[in-house]
Amino acid sequence: MCGIVGYIGHRDAYPIVLKGLQRLEYRGYDSAGIALYDGANLNVCKTKGKVLDLKNKMEAENITEGNIGIGHTRWATHGVPNDVNSHPHYSNSGDIVIIHNGIIENYASLKQELTSRGYTFESDTDTEVLVNLIEDVKKKENVKLGKAVQIALNQTIGAYAIAVFDRNKPDEIIVARLGSPLAIGVGEDEFFIASDASPFIEFTKSAIYLEDGEMAIVRLGREVRVRKIQDDTMVVPYVQELQMNLEQIEKGGYEHFMLKEIYEQPSAIVDTYRGRMLVDKGIVRMAGMDDNIEKFTNAKRILIVACGTSWHAGLVAEYIFEDFARVPVEVEYASEFRYRNPIIDENDVVIAISQSGETADTMAAIKLAKSKGAFVFGVCNVVGSSISRETHAGAYTHAGPEIGVASTKAFTTQITVLSLMALKLAKAKGNMSHADFHYHLQELDLIPKKIKKALESNEHIKVVAKKYMNAANFLYLGRGFNFPVALEGALKLKEISYIHAEGYPAAEMKHGPIALIDENMPVVVIATKKGHYEKVVSNIQEIKSRDARIIGIVTEGDKDVRSMADYVIEVPDTIEAFTPLLTTIPLQLLSYHVAVMLGKNVDQPRNLAKSVTVE
Ligand code: F6R
Repeated sequence: MCGIVGYIGHRDAYPIVLKGLQRLEYRGYDSAGIALYDGANLNVCKTKGKVLDLKNKMEAENITEGNIGIGHTRWATHGVPNDVNSHPHYSNSGDIVIIHNGIIENYASLKQELTSRGYTFESDTDTEVLVNLIEDVKKKENVKLGKAVQIALNQTIGAYAIAVFDRNKPDEIIVARLGSPLAIGVGEDEFFIASDASPFIEFTKSAIYLEDGEMAIVRLGREVRVRKIQDDTMVVPYVQELQMNLEQIEKGGYEHFMLKEIYEQPSAIVDTYRGRMLVDKGIVRMAGMDDNIEKFTNAKRILIVACGTSWHAGLVAEYIFEDFARVPVEVEYASEFRYRNPIIDENDVVIAISQSGETADTMAAIKLAKSKGAFVFGVCNVVGSSISRETHAGAYTHAGPEIGVASTKAFTTQITVLSLMALKLAKAKGNMSHADFHYHLQELDLIPKKIKKALESNEHIKVVAKKYMNAANFLYLGRGFNFPVALEGALKLKEISYIHAEGYPAAEMKHGPIALIDENMPVVVIATKKGHYEKVVSNIQEIKSRDARIIGIVTEGDKDVRSMADYVIEVPDTIEAFTPLLTTIPLQLLSYHVAVMLGKNVDQPRNLAKSVTVE
């Protein structure tokens, strides 16, 4: 986690680094800092709080000059969020500054060693240890900064994306990555450094994404020099042309990114299936699958690994793959899978789902699966992300940047990709007739329009939110394809409103949770016509008779649930497998409005970060 930004060139660095940090606040926002070099002085300003607090401090202290700058927005791992623990960190001489995203696991022993040689430390961070280690190596070995960084990194265990600047060599910034992302924007006589491309997209579309284990010397007037940290091998950098634009990452008139991203779902889903789903021809094209179709058709089992919302998308996919393609599917939390010596071999296909493409646990699960011979397919949103590069093949969701920490459009676009994959596999295995296949494509094609319709309930959902915003607990119930949606609805509410919520399969209620029900408990029940409707109606009756407050997510025109529920929210009809793409929408809006009404920071909920690059 944490976001890093750097600039070296002819422009004022301050506005570029500051704006860049604001765009990266999704990666962490408990403290921030910037170092600026103005040709004579190296000034560092840092503070607990948001990037806005940093801006106020820097402008009050008049620290805004310089054409070289590095900045950091933090999600604390070592040391509480306070001014001292914020980055950038200085070396003891005051010459070298560093920003760091990641964790140096052996920092304690390195710190002990440096302390015994007279180094002192102000902060509790692993990063301050690293910058002093670099300084120590530079002095001891009498080497240039780049070499010192390389030697120091070879003594560390852990993960990092770093940018290092030395006031004695003010024409260069040294960067390196292992396990945390780092992109270099290449402009005309200027370079940008960032955790992702959003901080520099309006300045240049040319970017180099460092691979794990690589470092680069970014020097004015020179090409970027990339080499392997471990053995010094030079690497020819691949300069990539970026496709995203600035508009895609700004709020576009919405009050929050989360709301914008909820409303973007119809177009995001079209972007996901555009060029892949050829309805008229009755074809699904997906290069990553087409090129490896035998891996899929021969697979004895599909294993899905992911975390959080992406794991919920994986659960929906389990129902879809088993139903369409008749292949056994298991869905695992990546964080559990990686540590439990799983039974897996070359007959398994592993699908790794990740919006950011940077989640450390998912990455570790992929590496483990690969080491056991499995074929690993990635479903990621962020183009060029670490997971998309680590997997054997994959399909992007093409949802566009997701900035709100609570995942919304990533979830529905993941389900869309996974549905296309399941349909393609069903066809390839001969488990679905052409007519049926074609019918499913037509239905999927109608989903964006139906989501637009579901979004029309927004005002009504505000009324429901107002009614229950002060509840201490919520329950979410669903069955079949909509059980994972119940889990996702509960997660959305928890993470942005801090209200305790749980998702359950509706029929499990009577095995325990029904004891929680009283007149203060709002229960959100997904009860669409397709999907065990009568059974869910009976489950509603059971909880109704215990006085629960019922909010039904129902199919348009529903009468039975309406007669029992306190509120109903309608969604259009579709085939059962695609109902999650519609039932999710009101749950996203409900959690959004509750959180806004409670005055919570919707886009940046406490304790969270958008991409979880630590274990
Ligand atoms: C919840 C949320 C998280 C992520 C999880 C995995 O709204 O955003 O639960 O889904 O951290 O992240 P990715 O998909 O980037 O691997």
